[in-house]
Amino acid sequence: MAVLPVLVFPDERLKQPAQPVGHFDHALRDFITDLEQTMRAGPGGVGIAAPQVGCQQRIVIVDVSSKPKLVHHGCLILINPEITYRDGSVMGREGCMSVPDFTGNVMRAQNIKLCALDARGAKLELACTGYEARAIQHELDHLDGLLFLDRLVSRRTDLFPRKKYQ
Ligand code: NI
Repeated sequence: MAVLPVLVFPDERLKQPAQPVGHFDHALRDFITDLEQTMRAGPGGVGIAAPQVGCQQRIVIVDVSSKPKLVHHGCLILINPEITYRDGSVMGREGCMSVPDFTGNVMRAQNIKLCALDARGAKLELACTGYEARAIQHELDHLDGLLFLDRLVSRRTDLFPRKKYQ
């Protein structure tokens, strides 16, 4: 097990779309273990996507269970995830391990439904809301080479140095 180095903006590899996972083997599960450790090593890490550690595969982990008073599903390992339904639109503050010096205000769907595969290739179907839905949308963007910076309405008014807004 290992904490992996996290790529930081403006690393070009963060802009590359990731490829679907085809093999659900030990190597995949070992990688997921490392990815989860890397997420937990970060400050306030509630999610991570494989491209953030230089692996261009469609794998994300989301776990918002450390935040109080949220509806959530615990630690979600989502492989080849697809959002199948979006409802509502809400502004919220986001951070990212790959953008360590800033946070930003981003519009996201309030409620989503998604399908994905778990670490053994079994199909998952989930309905998520609020902060968990936001975290999933943020992580899925990484699979398409997008950062929250790409979603800001205005860099002038929606981007904040982290020192001032922990
Ligand atoms: Ni991120």
